[in-house]
Amino acid sequence: MTAPILTVEHLSASIAGQQVVEDVTFAVPATGITAVLGRNGVGKTSTLRGILGLISRRGAVTLAGERIDSLPTHRIVQRGVGYVPEDREVFAKLTVAENLALAERTKNPRREFVAELFPDLVARRGQMAGTLSGGQQQMVSLARALLNENVLLLVDEPTKGLAPRIVAEVADALQEAAKIVPILLVEQNLDVVRQLADDAVVIAGGRVVHTGPAREILDDRALTMRLLGVSAEVHA
Ligand SMILES: Nc1ncnc2c1ncn2[C@@H]1O[C@H](COP(=O)(O)OP(=O)(O)OP(=O)(O)O)[C@@H](O)[C@H]1O
Ligand SMILES: [Mg+2]
Repeated sequence: MTAPILTVEHLSASIAGQQVVEDVTFAVPATGITAVLGRNGVGKTSTLRGILGLISRRGAVTLAGERIDSLPTHRIVQRGVGYVPEDREVFAKLTVAENLALAERTKNPRREFVAELFPDLVARRGQMAGTLSGGQQQMVSLARALLNENVLLLVDEPTKGLAPRIVAEVADALQEAAKIVPILLVEQNLDVVRQLADDAVVIAGGRVVHTGPAREILDDRALTMRLLGVSAEVHA
C-alpha cells in the first residue's frame, strides 16, 4: 500500500466564529477517486475549504508527507492542490480561452490532455464563459484544475443541477482525469459515486461517521438511508 496523498486529522473549521466542521479525520489514497458523502449542510464544502485554508481551521492536514495546515491558501495551491468549487466560479466576461490561460501556473500546461478531454471547449474557445451552459462551465472549471500538474484535486458537486446526459459527460471526464491525478470528490449523485469512487468518507454533523470502500457503503441500504437519507438503488 502506498502512502496517502492527503491525510486530515481532527480538522475543525469555522465560519464567522461558528464551528461548521467539528472533528474530521480521513485519508485520501494517492490514486483514484475518494468520495465525500453526507446530507445537505453537514460540512462537506467546509471540509474542502478548511483543507485549502479558505476558512479558519485547526487540526493536522498533511499533503504528500508535509504539513500544510498552517500555510496560506496560495501556498497550498502552489504545492499542487487544485480546487473546483461548488459554484464553478468561471470568469463570465472572459472567453473560454482566457479562462484557461489565466489558470495556467506551470511551464508545461497539459493543453493536449485538456483539449482531448473537452473537445466542446476547443470549439468554443472564443465564447464568453458566462454564455456557456452549466455543464460547459463545469468543464471549464475542471479544465482549469487539470491544466496544472496538481498532485490532488478537490472537486465539489460537479454534477449539481446538470441534465442527465451532461452528468454522464462530466462523470466520464472525471474518470479520465482520475487516471492522472487523485481526486477528492464531494458528490450527491450516488449513481455517479458508484461509477467513480473507490473509497468514500461519510460526514454527518461535522464529523466523519463512516469510511470504507464506496461500493460497500452504497450497497448497505440501512446505512445509506440513515447517513444520507436515500437508498442507493442500483440502476444497472
Ligand atoms: N457563509 C456561511 N455563513 C454562515 N454559515 C455557513 C456559511 N456557509 C456554510 N454555512 C453553514 O455551515 C454548515 C456547513 O455548510 P457546508 O456548505 O460546508 O455544508 P455542505 O455539506 O457542503 O452542504 P451542501 O450539501 O448544501 O453543499 C451549514 O450548516 C451551513 O449552513
Ligand atoms: Mg456543499
